Amino acid sequence: MANSAHPLQNISLSAALADVEARYIAANPKSKARFEAAAHNMPGGNTRTILHYDPFPVVIVRGEGVRLTDLDGHLYTDYLGEYTAGLYGHSEPAIAAAIQEALSGGLVLGGPNAYEARLAELMCERFPAVELVRFCNSGTEANLMCLSLARAATGRDAIMVFNGAYHGGFLAFANGGSRVNAPFEYVVGEYNDPEGTQQLISQNAGKLAAVIVEPMMGAGGCIPADREFLDVLRRETERHGIVLIFDEVMTSRLAPGGLHGALGFTPDLVSFGKYLGGGVTFGAFGGRRELMGLLDPTRKDGFMHSGTYNNNVLTMAAGVAGLEKVFTPARAEELNASGDGLRQRLNALIDKHNVPMQVLGRGSMLCVHPTRKPIRRPSDHASAPADARRLLHLELNLRGFYTAPRGFMSLSLPHTESDHDRLVAAFEGFLEDYAGVLAQLD
Ligand SMILES: Cc1ncc(COP(=O)(O)O)c(C=O)c1O
Repeated sequence: MANSAHPLQNISLSAALADVEARYIAANPKSKARFEAAAHNMPGGNTRTILHYDPFPVVIVRGEGVRLTDLDGHLYTDYLGEYTAGLYGHSEPAIAAAIQEALSGGLVLGGPNAYEARLAELMCERFPAVELVRFCNSGTEANLMCLSLARAATGRDAIMVFNGAYHGGFLAFANGGSRVNAPFEYVVGEYNDPEGTQQLISQNAGKLAAVIVEPMMGAGGCIPADREFLDVLRRETERHGIVLIFDEVMTSRLAPGGLHGALGFTPDLVSFGKYLGGGVTFGAFGGRRELMGLLDPTRKDGFMHSGTYNNNVLTMAAGVAGLEKVFTPARAEELNASGDGLRQRLNALIDKHNVPMQVLGRGSMLCVHPTRKPIRRPSDHASAPADARRLLHLELNLRGFYTAPRGFMSLSLPHTESDHDRLVAAFEGFLEDYAGVLAQLD
């Protein structure tokens, strides 16, 4: 219906959403049945909240390159990229070979193995703020360890975070925080608010162990940090002996030396995750020698950092292959330039059709927001209509593009310019079909 000579010009947003939902449900009977069956054994049929969306998510049965196939046999071009973890696509040969080789050497070896020191060396070479590094199993764990290390090193308790930030399953600050967050004492500031941040830091300096921040908010909506805001963070944390942590779980892909490298910033600690494990469970954190050295087990006063799978051979081998053979500094530049180009093309279409939307982001990460309001922090897009995000998400799905319900997309290395051309065409088709609906949002 939506593709035939723009018949949806004058219907309401809720009627447009009901229409697209009905077509989505009709197109996905097997995913629907699987969703209902899964709910017998998992709450909401789900084991990872972010993967749920209404009316039910499609079940993915296969991935190859940047293509995904769902249970009902639809083929998608993947622009979710597993929320940035899928940088290498779904079947990079160098990574598959490294995993095969590691597998043939045996699992759960119970000792330092042939891979982890090389991955550590590659990461220290690549990321300027990282003098020493340690591995763990997720980005959440990496952040929890950075915060705990900061508390141990400073002898202080509180943590400063920013409203709307996401640092993991136990560190989520949409609408200020959550009862299932790790029970630290939090001081909550506003992103890109240098004056307010400076005040909060000086008022709480005596109790703040750490400030944790993403140099571009990822889940918060791909909002880049202003230089002045980051300058205040670096200056004030240094002045008060507070540990500055950059969460680069998502953003380290944005430049060869991570976003801190591109911006020329040196935080005290940096957390990593996602793609750096080559598509296998991964987390890491690193930074100043003096801080990371507190985890040295040969020191009598060292703190403990343990985890059975911290150096699991599959992750370590896949991570090494990825950085050594695939995501070279040149490929990092290329991928992010291609993402900048895609974002500019989508924004040009929004201008051309004069609809209340904008695409934020940097390089290979972008997010479509259904509002004209300038966005400098998550509260600026909180009132953008969630139904317009859902409409775009389900329409892109029906047109063969797999993206995040909140409008987020990330590029993967196997994408070609012709994939981008098709996405741009689908986006323009959406703008044409729903011009009348979108105009009502102004
Ligand atoms: C910025 C940021 N930090 C931390 C995390 C948590 O990483 P993980 O899901 O590996 O625990 C995420 C996950 O999306 C993230 O986007």
